[in-house]
Amino acid sequence: MSEASIIDGKALAAQVQERVRAAVEELKKRHGFVPGLAVVLVGDDPASRVYVRNKGKRTTEAGMKSFEYQLPADTGEEALLERIARLNKSPEVHGILVQLPLPKQINPDRVIDAIDPDKDVDGFHVINAGRLAVGRPALVPCTPLGCVLLAKQAKADLTGLEAVIIGRSNIVGKPLAQLLLRENCTVTIAHSRTRDLPEVARRADLLVAAVGRPELVRGSWIKPGAIVIDVGINRVERENGKAKLVGDVAFGEAKEVAGAITPVPGGVGPMTIAMLLVNTVKAACMQRNIPLPRPLAGL
Ligand code: GUN
Repeated sequence: MSEASIIDGKALAAQVQERVRAAVEELKKRHGFVPGLAVVLVGDDPASRVYVRNKGKRTTEAGMKSFEYQLPADTGEEALLERIARLNKSPEVHGILVQLPLPKQINPDRVIDAIDPDKDVDGFHVINAGRLAVGRPALVPCTPLGCVLLAKQAKADLTGLEAVIIGRSNIVGKPLAQLLLRENCTVTIAHSRTRDLPEVARRADLLVAAVGRPELVRGSWIKPGAIVIDVGINRVERENGKAKLVGDVAFGEAKEVAGAITPVPGGVGPMTIAMLLVNTVKAACMQRNIPLPRPLAGL
């Protein structure tokens, strides 16, 4: 059996970013406006700062307006809710993202509930979760959207595949299950309490790992030829004391068995921001009641 093909998330994200840039150009020319994305960061978590900086950079590169708000770590819930209320009203802002996790004095559910669902480019609002569940047009979380595009790089039509998702989070597992149902997969959501997880994983033609446990999924858990999408980004110490990033899948073993697999880094990670840009354009078009520009057709 030959080695798995490596699904290149970096290259795919660059293609998506280019399509977003072309779409923004078209909106500017035909409709005379530019989509805007507001990102709110509370506190100074170093990882969150890096994410927020990258989001702003990519937004500008795609030709959109980026609004960044860095609020102090001791910001109260009411102050954040006021900021969101202002962004909800602003005609220049089509997408709002509040970086998670939030400091403990702030209830994230109250914050997400306060975002206008039509500007909720994270797709975390219960209205968008409900729309997705019943198959109405919705803003859908970015990471699961990226997972589906990556899987389609390996197989354009996912119809009929046995899909197993390990992880039941509201951000990845649950919305991804809905998306894969829409792609006509037979979907299983497995989790930490699943009986005989390796056996369940071995059923999968499409296996997605989204649990945040370094290298949980071993080569022996994978059906030969399966598509493997690794959502995990885990920082682990190496013997030499330096940190490295590993996924939820033991990549070295898995690539000997799988048909196609995403690497970490360079797989799902780069796709998330690319899909955020797509969601911002989608949100802007929905708010203005205009069709999605042609370069984004099918996304
Ligand atoms: N923190 C880590 N990932 C995400 C994400 O996708 N959206 C938001 N808002 N915060 C995050």
